[in-house]
Amino acid sequence: MTGWTATSRRVREEIGQEARFRHSVGVARTADRLAQAHGLDAGRARVAGLLHDLARLWPKERLLAEARRRALMLDAFDVAHPVVIHAPLSAELAREGYGVRDEQILDAIRKHTLGEARMSGLDTVLYLADALEPGRSYEGRAAMLDLAMRDLAEGMRAVLRSTLSHHASHGLTLSPRTLACARAFGVTVPKEILHA
Ligand SMILES: [Fe+2]
Ligand SMILES: [Fe+2]
Repeated sequence: MTGWTATSRRVREEIGQEARFRHSVGVARTADRLAQAHGLDAGRARVAGLLHDLARLWPKERLLAEARRRALMLDAFDVAHPVVIHAPLSAELAREGYGVRDEQILDAIRKHTLGEARMSGLDTVLYLADALEPGRSYEGRAAMLDLAMRDLAEGMRAVLRSTLSHHASHGLTLSPRTLACARAFGVTVPKEILHA
């Protein structure tokens, strides 16, 4: 990857929407803070944050077609909710277009939307930064970010609990990966949660 300023300029152009670009910068900054607070590599966290949503605004037909072209593994949930494919595809774009070869960064980007049973420190940092960056405005965000700054696993449990209760109250289907992630962090899954 070339310098930070040149890279962020390219990301801004590639994303093509100011709000999504600002979110990406917010995630990069928040991931940097979380990494520093927990003795993890802040440089990796920043790169993962800046590049995590490169394909976020692609229409679902394009997400499905580009995933198939690259033979990405999709499960039934991904096919039913193509927006989530932006995570593994953004990792591919980071590799193809930005020269990122660091598998830890690419894995964190792949897992940032749904989580997974096995989450490294960097995976957790990016997942939390995406959910908790200051550009997002919802009840409890700042308190959960404070908690994550003190304790990553507790921050994960708080975000996962709020995701589960959102899904339960809206009758939304949960990805098997998010379910596995919640279980791995010891979060109790409410009975009314539907999963694919
Ligand atoms: Fe995303
Ligand atoms: Fe994001």
